[in-house]
Amino acid sequence: MNFTGKEIEKFGSFSTPFYYYNLDLLKKTLEVLKAASLKYGYKIHYAVKANANERILRLISSYGFGADCVSGNEVSKAVECGFDASKVVFAGVGKSDKEILTALRLGIFCFNSESVQEVEVINSLAKAENKTASVALRLNPGIDAHTNQKINTGLADSKFGIPFTKLKETVEFVKGLSNIKLIGIHYHIGSQILDFEPYKLLCERSNEIQAELEKLGLQLPVINLGGGLGIDYNKPEKNSVPEFEKLLDLIHKDLKVKEGQEVHFEFGRSVVAQCGVLVSKVLYVKQGDTSDFAILDAGFTDLIRPALYGAYHKIENLTSTADENGVYDVVGPICESTDVFAKSRSLKKTSRGDLLAFYSAGAYGEIMASQYNLRDLPHVYFSE
Ligand code: LLP
Repeated sequence: MNFTGKEIEKFGSFSTPFYYYNLDLLKKTLEVLKAASLKYGYKIHYAVKANANERILRLISSYGFGADCVSGNEVSKAVECGFDASKVVFAGVGKSDKEILTALRLGIFCFNSESVQEVEVINSLAKAENKTASVALRLNPGIDAHTNQKINTGLADSKFGIPFTKLKETVEFVKGLSNIKLIGIHYHIGSQILDFEPYKLLCERSNEIQAELEKLGLQLPVINLGGGLGIDYNKPEKNSVPEFEKLLDLIHKDLKVKEGQEVHFEFGRSVVAQCGVLVSKVLYVKQGDTSDFAILDAGFTDLIRPALYGAYHKIENLTSTADENGVYDVVGPICESTDVFAKSRSLKKTSRGDLLAFYSAGAYGEIMASQYNLRDLPHVYFSE
């Protein structure tokens, strides 16, 4: 995303810090995703956890995509914002009874469940409601997604999923439950995946599991491969739309799909990351002994990814007219030493009042904001 002079001028009148969403870029991304998925008839569920801003949800649902939710509140919000309940999947390692009931009553497509203990509870709640719940079992495929270890989920020691070594006993148990319809297998190997090799391995694992299920006399209609497609945090202006088509082409080549089977995905970051920026005002520039600090009015309460995962976001000084650059530790005002966005970052010479933009902040930005230190939540503006 590049800003016009007019846009930057407009930013001067906004309250900082603020998230700014470029809806044209989001629409372009959704169109590319839609075309790529229609090519093979793949079903896409937007992972609401990445950004649950109402306007964004309404726009995404208007393209006919489904939703991937991880709490009862996400399920309700998705439906309120136009997602068809029959296209909602509900995942998560531990769903409460209240959340399960919310989803049952709304008539969602499927529970992605990660333990027999939870499927048993879904069964008894469904029985009491006189309903049948569709369930996909989330299997842990034991695959390293080669991403930040804090967001890697498919490894054998991860809390996520049912180990695939327990597939047979789990399937047999679930098949015996009166109010459960076992409809599929679900996987999710991690997030911000840029190397496609793990997806290839995932297809191979899914093919093996499919063969195992066939031995048990089962052919389940749903294969859900989760999300995880990464985005370019280094050059967001060059690669503003992720490579959906390339990934789906690879899946089409490597995944065995039988007649009547559907392939589902749950993309979050790749859909919304590049359309959002966080803009913050420089409060002070302080000279330390070893570095200069650009102290901002945004902190990790507004964008926690750098503090929590050591994540990189491209930062640009939008308003400085200086010709030369300075090197800064870019930090927030929160009383914690981890409230640092970047160390030794080269920016146009920066002074009080300048506006800094953090790119690729549309995913896991606004939604992870908190009020720690009793700070205000960030403001939100849209290009339209
Ligand atoms: N499906 C499941 C089961 C998931 O756990 C996730 C993300 C997704 C789909 C969507 O993944 P995506 O397409 O967005 O990669 N807060 C972290 C990311 C956590 C991802 C959690 N699960 C970050 O800021 O990098």
